[in-house]
Amino acid sequence: MADFMASMFGPLPDTVRLLDAGAGAGALTAAFVSRLCQKEDGVRIIEATLFERDPFIQDALLKTMQHCRHVCAEAGIGLTFTIHATDFIHDMSALLTGGLFATIPPAFDAAITNPPYKKIGTDSVERRALRSVGIETSNLYTGFIALIQKLLAPAGQLVGITPRSFCNGPYFRPFREDFLSNLELRRLHVFESRNAAFRSDSVLQENIIFHAVKGRNQPPELVISSSSGEHGDIVTESVLAFGDIVHPHDTEQFIHIPSTPSHTAAKEIMTGLHSSLASLGVTVSTGRVVDFRLKDSLRQEPQKGAVPLVYPCHFDAGTVHWPKPQSRKPNAILDNDETRPWLVPTGVYLLTKRFTSKEERRRLVACLFDPDIVKAKWLGFENHLNYFHANGRGLDRNLAVGLFAFLNSTVVDQYFRRFSGHTQVNASDLRKLVYPNRATLYAMGIEMKSLDLPQEGIDELVTNHLHA
Ligand SMILES: C[S@@+](CC[C@H](N)C(=O)[O-])C[C@H]1O[C@@H](n2cnc3c(N)ncnc32)[C@H](O)[C@@H]1O
Repeated sequence: MADFMASMFGPLPDTVRLLDAGAGAGALTAAFVSRLCQKEDGVRIIEATLFERDPFIQDALLKTMQHCRHVCAEAGIGLTFTIHATDFIHDMSALLTGGLFATIPPAFDAAITNPPYKKIGTDSVERRALRSVGIETSNLYTGFIALIQKLLAPAGQLVGITPRSFCNGPYFRPFREDFLSNLELRRLHVFESRNAAFRSDSVLQENIIFHAVKGRNQPPELVISSSSGEHGDIVTESVLAFGDIVHPHDTEQFIHIPSTPSHTAAKEIMTGLHSSLASLGVTVSTGRVVDFRLKDSLRQEPQKGAVPLVYPCHFDAGTVHWPKPQSRKPNAILDNDETRPWLVPTGVYLLTKRFTSKEERRRLVACLFDPDIVKAKWLGFENHLNYFHANGRGLDRNLAVGLFAFLNSTVVDQYFRRFSGHTQVNASDLRKLVYPNRATLYAMGIEMKSLDLPQEGIDELVTNHLHA
């Protein structure tokens, strides 16, 4: 993997100032050096700067770097290196604000990185340090990338491997804006299997490798490639217009990555659709009942004075089956002054899971709430699901069933996978999707006689209507 990443760099200057932030035992720098030594393309000097704060890995890192110096010497390349056994975020943000030594921050021609992944709380030291240099981000990896970007010289190159989560979702929007306005994307590589590349580390995120160059003009086209993530597998490549990856008018700046032919086919079908959820008079929201905040009002079983509380565990064969006997989740919530603001009046609602398991076939799992089956005046939709409604009330049944078919189709699933690498489905992702017009959704809804159709049945129905 390290060698594959190193292979992505374009031509480099005679003297290369290299940065490896979160260097571990130095695998990425070693791969970078080894490539340059084989290439003989004019690089004479490598000045490597490495950050690794783990004291237990310092010996291994030093050994790797001494070996690199030896390999370089044999290839006629001079290598100098500095290992900082310190915190990259702390040191570099202090340097960039002029606090530490008040010197000019270093500029790098190349950076190769596999940064650490961890959520960072609003008040954490890391978050505050990053904020001091104008970076607002909730994960260590995006903090590393944003800092590295600032440390690159003009036309400096960055190859990084990170989770794919930054490509969509509202939390990463400021990061995406910063990234896309200061780095020109040259290549994106995705893995078809979510955990192949990092199986031993039990990283369940989908990962992405990117090659980007410091600058402000995105290229007209870039290379999208994919592989299974297994050792020695085949890499498939295609060239796509930048506008297909980041849509020109998308204020959210989602990064779409069509990595398989079915993703591309899905895009073609979806391009023919023009309705927004808002134009259909439909809104999608995250379930309003946050159970741990209303603990005292939760009831395991239905009782007088309580109303249904719907969780994803109530999804069954396309509809909500409630109550669920021996459920690990409470089935009901008291209807009182404290809870009423979080409840919705009964009606036909379309629900989707916010989190799907790895084993689930689709990312989007939609289910109909049918008030004729579950009878109640008010309902609680729990926070682990999203619900589609009309201004806080239920939907027209045919429209809801049409949406059910559309959202459960393979086309939408494949389209969704172009921009979402993780199993979480945010209400904002659903808001951004394009939908068939009202008449088509109605027609789909009318034709859908059973909600418990096999996948092929749903796909046939949806495809027929979308091609009509
Ligand atoms: C995902 S590992 C990558 C290691 C190596 N680059 C590789 O690819 O094999 C991230 C590394 O960053 C280091 N690290 C985490 N936080 C750091 C920080 N704030 N400053 C410097 N290094 C850090 C960890 O100790 C770990 O070795």
